[in-house]
Amino acid sequence: MYQTKTCKIITVVGARPNFMKAAPILAAFRDYNERQATSGARDSHFILQNLLVHTGQHYDESMSERFFADLNIPNPDVHLGVGSGSHATQTAEIMKRFEEVLLQERPDLLVVVGDVNSTLACALVAAKISFGANGARPMIAHVEAGLRSFDWSMPEEINRVLTDRVADLLFVTEQSGLENLRGEGISDEKIHFVGNTMIDSLLAFKGKAERSSILDTMGLQNCGSHRGSANGRIRYALLTLHRPSNVDQRDTFLNILEGLEELSHTCPVIFPAHPRTQKRIAEFGFERFFSAENEWQKGNSHSAGGNARIRMVAPLGYLDFMCLMGNAAVVVTDSGGIQEETTCLGVPCVTVRENTERPITVQVGTNILAGTRKEDIRRAARQQLESKAARSVPEGWDGKSAQRIVEIICKAMEKKQLL
Ligand code: UD1
Repeated sequence: MYQTKTCKIITVVGARPNFMKAAPILAAFRDYNERQATSGARDSHFILQNLLVHTGQHYDESMSERFFADLNIPNPDVHLGVGSGSHATQTAEIMKRFEEVLLQERPDLLVVVGDVNSTLACALVAAKISFGANGARPMIAHVEAGLRSFDWSMPEEINRVLTDRVADLLFVTEQSGLENLRGEGISDEKIHFVGNTMIDSLLAFKGKAERSSILDTMGLQNCGSHRGSANGRIRYALLTLHRPSNVDQRDTFLNILEGLEELSHTCPVIFPAHPRTQKRIAEFGFERFFSAENEWQKGNSHSAGGNARIRMVAPLGYLDFMCLMGNAAVVVTDSGGIQEETTCLGVPCVTVRENTERPITVQVGTNILAGTRKEDIRRAARQQLESKAARSVPEGWDGKSAQRIVEIICKAMEKKQLL
């Protein structure tokens, strides 16, 4: 007969792409505890007590709160309220404020997800903290470990590599992650291939997303006559751009927008713009490429003489965005996560980057790495718009990744207790 003990966990979220990766893990903690409470048979002798910490790296309603509502994430227990700043300022501010939380709460385990500044900042604090004379510190779990673009000019690459170096449990989403971590000399016993928790969210909320009214709101159902076009989806494109390397340099950004002109003459291009990108558009005077939300009219089909400029809208919530992504004929993006979501949905994707840390998305055939030259973007968009990319889901992207993570966490905790 096991004796029940409490395993105290802190899970950190900070920026938009963290929320859909963490939500299934939080749900799996709750499920695990419910199973413990209701079943006589114990999976192990732990109750998982989770504290959710939001760093406040993203703070706009549309970049944060909306996702908590859409993904049924409970309110954070602690909000660090850090906000924007240079990389150094933001990272340092998170570290200072998170250290106080860690010292007060003394968790057994820290869970960080993805590759944003909040991920690295909190992992670093936990790696160096000492809860007492014996130097005890929490175990560190990194969800989405091992992804590598091998591009050190990307802040995310630095965050990924350094977080992996200090993590004790490395949860990997795709085969390349295993190879990268082994190549870096990380011991096999720390590495766990679990699949993709972001896909857990996608599968859990797909039905709800399909009931979103966003297609009607944007007048895209009227493009429905194009259903049955080459790839059988509605003939519009969905665009996201926010990487500093793409939007912070005037010439690069201009080149990308020119590369997209042909596409925007072929079908409506819907562009939920990140705050960073909106600022750059105003700064560089690129408004001529876009029509604002209030400029295009509901039901005004593109082919019936609608505006050929890119339709810029405010950042969307999770469910509306999933609905737009699932129905689009093509998605053009520089995001990491969207490459994976389109892969799972079987939607053709053009990635406007020179590299990807998610090579599986190219291997299964839904994603084309187009680079940032305008001719290449044009060619890739043309090809993908007519593509019949088949849905081929990578190993372990089955909606059960968070469950596997919780099982591994419990085993690791048991082992730690036995030592
Ligand atoms: C961050 C992540 C990036 C991720 C992206 C998704 C890092 C290094 N980068 O980039 O990996 O793909 O989130 O969005 O962590 N801003 C607002 N409101 C907000 C948040 C940001 O206006 O709620 C503006 C601010 O001007 C801020 C800028 O956007 O300076 C950039 O925000 P920041 O969190 O520094 O990086 P992201 O570009 O969002």
